[in-house]
Amino acid sequence: MKPGFLMLLLLVLVACESAPAITPAPVSADAQKFVALKGNREIGKNKYAETCVSCHGMSGRVSPGAGKDLATSAFIKGLSDADLVLFLTRGRGVNDPLNTFKSEMPARGGDSALTDQDLADIVAYVRTLQK
Ligand code: HEC
Repeated sequence: MKPGFLMLLLLVLVACESAPAITPAPVSADAQKFVALKGNREIGKNKYAETCVSCHGMSGRVSPGAGKDLATSAFIKGLSDADLVLFLTRGRGVNDPLNTFKSEMPARGGDSALTDQDLADIVAYVRTLQK
């Protein structure tokens, strides 16, 4: 093998290694119907302030005993936007194994008037809170 070829191989390997591995979170089958929604974070901020703030606080950081901290949540980080919308449509009951607060996360934040588009807007805002 020619040294030049080895050098090239090495360069290619190094280039591949240093490329950042950004793998977007997979979208579950149930969340496919939300993929097309495009969230607007400004609208989402207003909706969040109306519905979510009482339990989660405007910065996603809560007072003890209320909702979970959304700013540092690994659960949120691990979900695609579509799956987060799906989560919000369902909430998390007290008997859900993931529920550690023994307090309910209400479906649609307890406001059944929030549309799927509203939830996508809220998700866009929640993304801006992430640390
Ligand atoms: C009545 C209080 C209440 C309201 C209103 C509320 N939540 Fe929650 N939320 C909770 C509680 C309590 C939990 C934690 C439940 C548990 O232990 O898993 C939670 C959990 C969550 C989680 C999961 C976090 C994690 O790390 O597991 C997300 C995301 C979330 N809420 C988003 C929202 C959004 C967005 C809204 C507004 C649409 C909202 N919540 C409105 C009480 C509330």
